[in-house]
Amino acid sequence: MKIVVIFLCLCGSISSLQEYGVGQRKFKVSDKLFLERQRDLLDLYRNVNQLDFDENRQKIAKSYAIEANVDAYVNSTAVKQFVSYYKLGLLPRGEIFSIFYYEHRLQAISLFKLFYYARDFDTLYKTAVWARNNVNEGLFLYAFSTALVHRDDTFTFVLPPIYEIYPFYFYNSEDLEKAQRYKQAYSGGAKTYTIYSNYSGYYLNLNKEQSLSYFLEDVGLNAFYYYCNIYYPFWMDGDEFKLKNDRRGEQYYYLYQQLLARYYLERLSNDFGEVEFFNYDEPFKYGYYSSLRYPTGLAFPNRPNYAPLSETRANFGQSWTYKSAFGYSYSRVQDFERRISDTIDAGFAFTKSGKLVDLYSSDQINVLGNMIESNPDSVNPRYYGPWDIYGRHLLGYSYQPLDKYKVAPSALEHFETALRDPAFYQLYKKILMQFFKYKIYLPPYTYNELNFPGVKIEKFEVDKLFTYFDYFDSDVTNAVYTPPNFQWDNFKVKVRQQRLNHKPFTLKIYVNSDKVNDAVVRLFLGPKYDEYGRKLTMTEKRLNFVELDTFRYKLQSGENVIERTSRDFYWYVPDKTSYRDLYKKILGALDNTESLQLDSSEAFYGFPNRLLLPKGKREGQVFQFYVIINPYQAPGRQEVQQDYYFHRVGTGMNYIDNYAFGFPFDRTIVSYDFKVPNSKFQDVTIYHKSSDDLNSSQAQNEP
Ligand SMILES: *[C@@H]1O[C@H](CO)[C@@H](O)[C@H](O)[C@H]1NC(C)=O
Ligand SMILES: *[C@@H]1O[C@H](CO)[C@@H](O)[C@H](O)[C@H]1NC(C)=O
Ligand SMILES: *[C@@H]1O[C@H](CO)[C@@H](O)[C@H](O)[C@H]1NC(C)=O
Repeated sequence: MKIVVIFLCLCGSISSLQEYGVGQRKFKVSDKLFLERQRDLLDLYRNVNQLDFDENRQKIAKSYAIEANVDAYVNSTAVKQFVSYYKLGLLPRGEIFSIFYYEHRLQAISLFKLFYYARDFDTLYKTAVWARNNVNEGLFLYAFSTALVHRDDTFTFVLPPIYEIYPFYFYNSEDLEKAQRYKQAYSGGAKTYTIYSNYSGYYLNLNKEQSLSYFLEDVGLNAFYYYCNIYYPFWMDGDEFKLKNDRRGEQYYYLYQQLLARYYLERLSNDFGEVEFFNYDEPFKYGYYSSLRYPTGLAFPNRPNYAPLSETRANFGQSWTYKSAFGYSYSRVQDFERRISDTIDAGFAFTKSGKLVDLYSSDQINVLGNMIESNPDSVNPRYYGPWDIYGRHLLGYSYQPLDKYKVAPSALEHFETALRDPAFYQLYKKILMQFFKYKIYLPPYTYNELNFPGVKIEKFEVDKLFTYFDYFDSDVTNAVYTPPNFQWDNFKVKVRQQRLNHKPFTLKIYVNSDKVNDAVVRLFLGPKYDEYGRKLTMTEKRLNFVELDTFRYKLQSGENVIERTSRDFYWYVPDKTSYRDLYKKILGALDNTESLQLDSSEAFYGFPNRLLLPKGKREGQVFQFYVIINPYQAPGRQEVQQDYYFHRVGTGMNYIDNYAFGFPFDRTIVSYDFKVPNSKFQDVTIYHKSSDDLNSSQAQNEP
């Protein structure tokens, strides 16, 4: 984020932060304590599927007693609760964990609180070492990462890339099988093995949706979604954990709206149209085979083409007694959908005690978002229930478990894998339809609300846009078994996969202003034609515009040229540093051989910059940029901690002004009001090239 220029000394541990470089996102750390702690945290992420072999940590894991140290935690209620769960028995190690299962969730929340309420770093560390060895690995990984990003003293630390920590959820079973074989054939010495991997679409020809697997299975995309849910868990109480400043409910809506819009642009590049609509009463058309396998060896459940959903079909003969009522998913989702739909039409929501909450007195999208996500901030979670949790279970086609600790969740029931299944988008489209309906009932923006008097965009220029596939390596060594006496550093296995990327580009916006103005610039990319080449109307396309960038800008009187490069775009971040590189850099910094230099986005999450542009076509495909400049309006939130160098949950740093997310496309458009001089549409063509073509044409400078 560009407006956050200066780092502050927010806590002792990163006081030696230094900023350098053009992008202003880079930072340097040489603080010893910070580096040691970062190293210690990383150690706990290594080989999480196995016990920790380190002797010192083993000692802590064996001797540390939570109950005896209750004073080391800020909240004794939380400690007592965890201890009582622990004594009753948690999910055992080696079993599959999913936050979407009721008992698993109770335990994860309880463990999270234990970490969160540890009084100091030392207590946190000991608790974590203990849990790393005594608690289920999936449970530990989830609760620990969630706690780290929410704690005052750890939110600036970098979480390692989840696709390296838990490769099982990101790479096909055949890749991991190969990795295992390399391990067995390994006979010592420093050695790196490389596995060339394809997406599942290459050898499964289940249905046409599979051809988008290069996008749906992109590890960066899936990691992004996983991190979103680490920072904003659906079960988290907004009061207790300070999420209220972040426009949580609205953010829920916007995340999914933008994900679907981005997916649509990718679909267009492959001659597909809108994500299809499905009906609960008809068989679900698109099957899904994940090609994934759990570390236990169990395969992910699959869904055949034309899968019937109703209770008497999908669940025939299975146990329905489970506390979560998953056996009744088909009816539950319809109950929730109907209630939400009725509530939006009626204009009032019921609270638990029967009071009415007006949905239209002002823009209440936040209330609606919390209600539909059914998080603890919802006006009535019981009544407006967790639609998406039941929806995931229903469409994922997982089996009803007989035992709460023997579950086989579908791809939809893990954040790491949900985006891979095309059903995800169909489910969330249904959910979004409710938001869209709500927004349609709000008045369209008037000319005056859109206009910026005295400001005119004269011209918009952008470089030629190219996308290509290039190789990306990730280290999957964590997916193979490592015996205790083994030197971790010597054996290494990587998966090499082609991922979509684009040439960085620069754009220039020429703006005339009649005076000095504090402005906000919004930049979008959207469709122009549908999959048949027909020009789309504003109403048809407005919800498929993807926000590329939003930033504050001080307009000078007269002519202004605003220049931005795709590397600076607010929400788009580079790939995370690989675990090993990060670890080496930290050791290097501790030995004073080099200082640790990182992108500050590493300690937060963002959409992968690689996927900024849709693939486009070889012969070029026309899309549209849209730019609008509006007066800056200070956010209505209490301005706590606005100057954090790092993003921080709860500070409202996900937005820089007071406009609705998605403004001005979020409401119905009245075309004669929409054409304001401070906005501009610009057609652009996106070309898809092979990287060889790009290289050879670069030499001639004429792609
Ligand atoms: C302590 O934890 C309990 C259980 O999570 C919670 O209800 C309570 O609000 C917490 N108290 C404080 C002071 O944070
Ligand atoms: C990936 O799929 C393509 C197309 O089927 C094939 O040509 C290629 O050999 C495959 N690569 C690997 C590593 O399996
Ligand atoms: C271009 O060539 C370089 C050097 O041969 C190579 O590393 C790179 O992957 C190629 N492709 C692109 C798109 O730069």
